[in-house]
Amino acid sequence: MPLSTALGAPRVVDVVPTLQTLRPEDVAGRVAVVIDVLRATSTIVAALGAGARDIRPVATPEEAQARLARLEASRGSREGLLLGGEREGFRLPGFDLGNSPLEYTPKTVAGKTIIFTTTNGTQTLRRAAGAHRTILVASFLNASAVAERLWTCPTGIVLACAGTRGWFSLEDTLLAGFLVDSLEKRAADSGAAVGDTSAAPGPFVFRDLARSAAALYRTLAGGSGEDLARVVVTADHARYLTSRGFGADVAYCASLDLLAVVPEYARGRVTLAAAGRRPVPNPRSG
Ligand code: MLT
Repeated sequence: MPLSTALGAPRVVDVVPTLQTLRPEDVAGRVAVVIDVLRATSTIVAALGAGARDIRPVATPEEAQARLARLEASRGSREGLLLGGEREGFRLPGFDLGNSPLEYTPKTVAGKTIIFTTTNGTQTLRRAAGAHRTILVASFLNASAVAERLWTCPTGIVLACAGTRGWFSLEDTLLAGFLVDSLEKRAADSGAAVGDTSAAPGPFVFRDLARSAAALYRTLAGGSGEDLARVVVTADHARYLTSRGFGADVAYCASLDLLAVVPEYARGRVTLAAAGRRPVPNPRSG
């Protein structure tokens, strides 16, 4: 089956389980959706939802400092610039912010450029950028807004989970499953089943891991938002974060559809795509 699609042609939907298995040749010409529920993509969504101007993902803390120095030199001021991110879950020395979405309030980030580095999430964004023009950023916080955007996208879709240090992450796969489940349900409701090209740019073809992720989501978390929160807290990285005092972050990152924004990564910056420019403050706004 050809992997590339044109308008009206079948749209292949696939899931990549970890950053390390994201191969540029498999994803070229498709829309990539980067997923790191705990916590990088949730933090990016929260920051942009709170009015941040843009996020600049970088690979290392050193690169973040160097980027800050360059921007500061070119602007003649550090005003409007923040350093954010983590290693081992904790804020880095000299950084303004860590990787807790709850820190990214309108008061702290509105109008700011945030240079951001995390262990897995920002690496996944940068790896996807090697092959893509359109890269969306998804979390449970903006899950339905992303699903809405995917419904109309004319190409194949790769749901790129960051995973955790090369390992499968339950929470990322559940979000991939939520997105597949949303597309499947909508296709069924609109009669746009495989083989019917009338109701959307092209029928979806869900590959094995996409179907498996949707089945996992429906089995473990599909009943209600409470089910979702209950299962996310049991994930390996959720337990690590909770043991380090970040339990409130885990609960927040497991909240469905708090923010109707669709961040897009292009030319080194994550910003709100025009269609998703509807900032909504997070509960710690102030
Ligand atoms: C990552 O990018 O690896 C994570 O977001 C780690 C974390 O929870 O801070």
